[in-house]
Amino acid sequence: MTFDLIVLGGGPAGYLASERAGHAGMKVCCIEERSVGGVCLNEGCVPTKTLLYSAKIFDGAAHGEKYGVSAEGLFIDHAKVVARKDKVVKTLVSGVKAALKANGVTVVNARGKITGRNEDGYTIEAGGETYTGKRLLIATGSSPAVPPIPGLKEGLGAGFVCTNREILQLTEKPEHLVVIGGGVIGLELASYFNSIGTKVTVVEMLDHIAGENDADLVGILKKTYEKRGVTFLLSARVTEVKGNAVCYEKDGKPNEIVCDKVLLSIGRRANTKDAGLESIHVLTERGAVVTDAHMKTNQPEVYAAGDVNGKSMLAHTAYREAEVAVNTMLGKHDTMRYEAVPGVIYTNPELAAVGETEKSAAAKGLDVACVKLTMRYSGRYVAENEGGDGIMKLIVSKETKKVLGAQVLANYASEFIVTVGTFIELGLTVDEVKEIVFPHPTVCEIVREAVFQF
Ligand code: NAI
Repeated sequence: MTFDLIVLGGGPAGYLASERAGHAGMKVCCIEERSVGGVCLNEGCVPTKTLLYSAKIFDGAAHGEKYGVSAEGLFIDHAKVVARKDKVVKTLVSGVKAALKANGVTVVNARGKITGRNEDGYTIEAGGETYTGKRLLIATGSSPAVPPIPGLKEGLGAGFVCTNREILQLTEKPEHLVVIGGGVIGLELASYFNSIGTKVTVVEMLDHIAGENDADLVGILKKTYEKRGVTFLLSARVTEVKGNAVCYEKDGKPNEIVCDKVLLSIGRRANTKDAGLESIHVLTERGAVVTDAHMKTNQPEVYAAGDVNGKSMLAHTAYREAEVAVNTMLGKHDTMRYEAVPGVIYTNPELAAVGETEKSAAAKGLDVACVKLTMRYSGRYVAENEGGDGIMKLIVSKETKKVLGAQVLANYASEFIVTVGTFIELGLTVDEVKEIVFPHPTVCEIVREAVFQF
């Protein structure tokens, strides 16, 4: 069976590339061992957001008094929330399957392994069959990083330690959850479990949570969750997982926390092992496939998109990379740019960012001005956030007055951060943005307020 394109992996990069290539008339085969949709749809972005939405409704009702709303006998049924999550996932996976079918893509539900190259193209074995592709797109994604901490693997085997996959299947609420790693996954799931009444302790190796996000916004977010009862142990190194305890070292002193579940969320690693990459000599660096700005690898007609290239492990980056790869295959000039990829942590409030922060701009030697505004400049924010302490920052080049970045701590930020991403992509100056009409009243108007500070 010879195809114009074989896509290895059916996550956001793989399924979108398959759809786009199929639509363009290529004969496409997408090989996926699990369910199409990948981590994002099945055990990542979408399931987490489904859980967090239930938590948001619950929190809104539980703290509704300040809005004149009282509820009695309020209860969140975790098992029902998880059941709804499964329904949402099923609906969206069906949608992806239908789109693949509509675009004439052959889906092979088996684990695929690249075995070599012949005169017709690259060969891949899957489910006992050999498939040949004139072109190959590696979109095998990533897996949770599991560091060599004593007892961790055993804890995973025993079900005491969970990754994002297992924790989203729990139908019983843990009493005490220890989250190892205060990054994106750790914070989103800490938020959910805190809302449903689980005691949550986050153990983070660094002296701050939320990675490279702006320290001012992160500081407010951390205080918000501390007020809600989440404990953050910073600069704390996990040394062992033992029985039902997580042992860690902080300030040179050993400690341990007894709990009934652990979430391991310390980052992800590209899936480059066991895919047969070495059989065609695909270049990898620090475990990720090396790609150029057109998603080409070092081998002719072999491309890589999504987490597997380790550039920006986000589903939305994967979508765009997939499109760049397919356009390049079709001979259309297209280039991947990473400068305006938004990042969101779906806590409550959401933390959304795009482009430069004050810190990253300084590290690059950029001469920037930063305006920091309280979200109370937005009428809708005030109407919907009694006592809200959200802020937004806008980073602008002093020399060109071009918008270079923004960070927002407020709900709906995930929905409008792309406006600033658009300004960055188009190279707009604050004066050009001033001429744009924003709908009123919206939380998004904070962006308009910010540009008028210049
Ligand atoms: P992450 O890189 O966001 O955070 C990992 C955290 O673990 C870091 O703060 C790190 O300092 C800490 N850490 C590392 N080793 C540790 C140790 N031994 N003990 C304690 N702390 C340790 O990784 P995360 O949260 O696992 O997410 C993985 C990927 O998935 C990320 O690339 C993320 O962008 C993506 N993702 C994106 C989401 C979104 O866009 N909303 C949602 C969930 C995941």
